[in-house]
Formats: sequence, C-alpha cells, structure tokens
Amino acid sequence: MADSRVPVWLDCDPGHDDVFAILLAAYHPSIRLLGISTVWGNASLEKTTQNACSILTAISKSTSVPVFAGAAHALYRPPMHAPTDIHGESGLDGTNLLPKPVITAANHHPGLNYQSNTAEEAVDAAAAALRSEPPGSAWVVATGSFTNVASLFTKYPELVGHVRGLSLMGGAIGGGFTRAVMGYVDGVPRVGNWTQYAEFNVLADPEAAQSIFGDEELAAKTTLIPLDLTHQVLATQEVRGLLLHGNTATTTTTKGYSQGKTELRTMLVELLMFFAKTYSDVFGITEGPPLHDPLAVAAVLAGLSSEIPFYDYDPADTGKTRERYEVSVITKGTYDEARAGARTGQTVAKLLPPGQEGVRIPRGLDIPMFWKVIEECVERADAANKAGLPFMDLN
Ligand code: BDR
Ligand code: CA
Repeated sequence: MADSRVPVWLDCDPGHDDVFAILLAAYHPSIRLLGISTVWGNASLEKTTQNACSILTAISKSTSVPVFAGAAHALYRPPMHAPTDIHGESGLDGTNLLPKPVITAANHHPGLNYQSNTAEEAVDAAAAALRSEPPGSAWVVATGSFTNVASLFTKYPELVGHVRGLSLMGGAIGGGFTRAVMGYVDGVPRVGNWTQYAEFNVLADPEAAQSIFGDEELAAKTTLIPLDLTHQVLATQEVRGLLLHGNTATTTTTKGYSQGKTELRTMLVELLMFFAKTYSDVFGITEGPPLHDPLAVAAVLAGLSSEIPFYDYDPADTGKTRERYEVSVITKGTYDEARAGARTGQTVAKLLPPGQEGVRIPRGLDIPMFWKVIEECVERADAANKAGLPFMDLN
C-alpha cells in the first residue's frame, strides 16, 4: 500500500523547543521524517548535533532517522556567539536525563570535530532524500538559522520546483499582527527577541533568509512561523502538567492527571522548566515559554484530515480572505551593530493583493489541538521506549 505520510526533512539547532519539533516530526502519524540536518545557533554545531543525536536516542528513533551535521556559521558572516542566556551552555541545559547518544552524525569523520566543513555533505544528503520522494510531496522544515536550507536551494535550484513546501520558524512581524505578548527587555516592549527588531533564526543568517524570501517560486511555497504566532503557544503550568503525567492512563491523581510519568516526560518537562525560567528572566513572560519550533512542523499538515488548523487570515475579516505576503530581510549591519540598535535581521512583511501568491504567515492556530497532538506524540515515544525497540525501524 502506498505510504501517504508527508515526507519531511528537518533542519534544526536543538535547543529546547527544537526538541519538540523533532518529537512531532518523528512521531506524528501523518509525517515520515526522512532525516535531520543540524546547524549552529542555540549552541555550537558540535553541541546542536550531539543534542539531536541524544534526543533521537531518548525517543527510540536513533536508528531510523539519520543525522547530518551542517553549517557551523552563517553564509557570509563570522561565527556568532551562541546565546547561552537562552538555552544554556549545552544548548539543552536544565536536565540530567538526556541520554548519551547511541549514534553520531552520519557525516561525522573520526578524528575531526563537527566544526570541519560538513555543511556541503548535509545539503547533499537532504537533496538526495528529497529527490527520492515524488514531486510535490516532500517538505523542508527549518527551525534554526536558514543557512543549510539556503545552501540547499542555491546548490540544487531544481528542488524548488520539486518540493511541496518549506516551513520556517523565524522572523517577527510586529505592528499588531497578532495579539501575542512579545515581552519586555529593560522595560521596552519587543518586536524581535534577539534584538529589538530581529528574531534569532533570521538574525543569525539574514543573507540566507533573504535568499529564500527573494526567490519568488520558493517564497510562494513557504510558510513562515514568526514570534507573533509562537508567542501565543505558551507551555503553561497546565500544559507542563499534561506533558508530565499524560492523558490516557486509566488512573487519575488527585490533581486530575493520569499517572503516566516516565523518564522521557520528566526530561521534557525539565527542559520546559529551564526554558520557562529563561523567558521569565529575560523577557518577563511568566505564564510559560513559547514553544516556537514544533509549530513549523505542525504547519506541514495543512490540507490533511490530521491537520492542526492554522489561520492565515485577519481575524477581523469575516470573509476570512487568505493572506499572502512579500517578505524581505534587512541584511545591512553586523551582529554587533544589531545588538547596538540597528535593524539588521528584521523581517519586513508586505500584504499582497488577494489571490497573489507569496509567503503564508498564519496569525493563529488551534492551540488546544496542538498540545493534544504533542501529548499523543509523547505517548507514542513512551510506548516505543517501553517496548525497548531502539534497534527496530519504527519509521
Ligand atoms: C528561535 O530561536 C531559538 O532560540 C529557538 O530554538 C527558535 O528556533 C526563536 O527565536
Ligand atoms: Ca531552534
């Protein structure tokens, strides 16, 4: 029987929220995860790659999902110091339960560390995996800087026509695009997170982002998940309780949760607790941390019966006219200038006339449904761990 699942290549920089992107891509029943490439960002490439391998180990997917280490810095910029105040030294601080990875990246060369020139091998691996899928079927999802993805479509431009879509977590629109709370730094309300104007993944490699949005054909296949959307999806205490205890066991505790607590759930919630503290300390968002990255994975389900509905129209528009945008990125300025107040890395989105193709930027989604789906993915991962199937291909 033909496999009707959506093939996905995931490029990421784990990263607390990237962990949930991996979980969703690996365990959603309508997604077939082809492979993972890593990029520097939330930590060095060495660490984000190690983290990706560790997470796959933690969810019994280490032998069915290959990992390729990608770019260690931006296309045309010097290495950027990883934001340790957001994800900690390791990129995944906050838990002692991360397993030692039972795999290394497929392009890890013994004796060399991941800082060596691996980017091209990761891009080639992604291209081969995508090409082996039928035209118009596979998605590329990026939840770190867009360096690897930009290199992929530059080196293999024919893939622009071949893929079904590109889903990116990044950017910040501002100007009341949504009602999400973006947070305050030094008492000043924010649009971006890494600077006043810029979101981290876009600022990390603005030229890479611009090369994607500047390609009309690719832009028309692109979904952008900006902070304005992700800041609506907070891992509140209630959500953390759901993820810690699960929802399906028959016995419930006095708190109303079923008793499903496992090592994996404990680890995931410890990661969320660390991320919650970051968001509270740095941005003054105390309700819970926004879980940015898995939303870019969820967006590939559009049009399927298992879809998590995303709303790509203005809530004030009773006609629900589908919106599409022309997006550009401010590339002028160095990282230091951006930190000092320049608009480097800002995403500028211009609404296109109705019917014209462009970047899809949802303004909302079915949030309870999103958390339900994440919880179900944890259940599946728990079941695989319990069955002790790390060496069977569950994909
Ligand atoms: C993005 O930056 C990183 O901190 C997160 O993993 C996410 O991809 C949010 O701006
Ligand atoms: Ca990320």
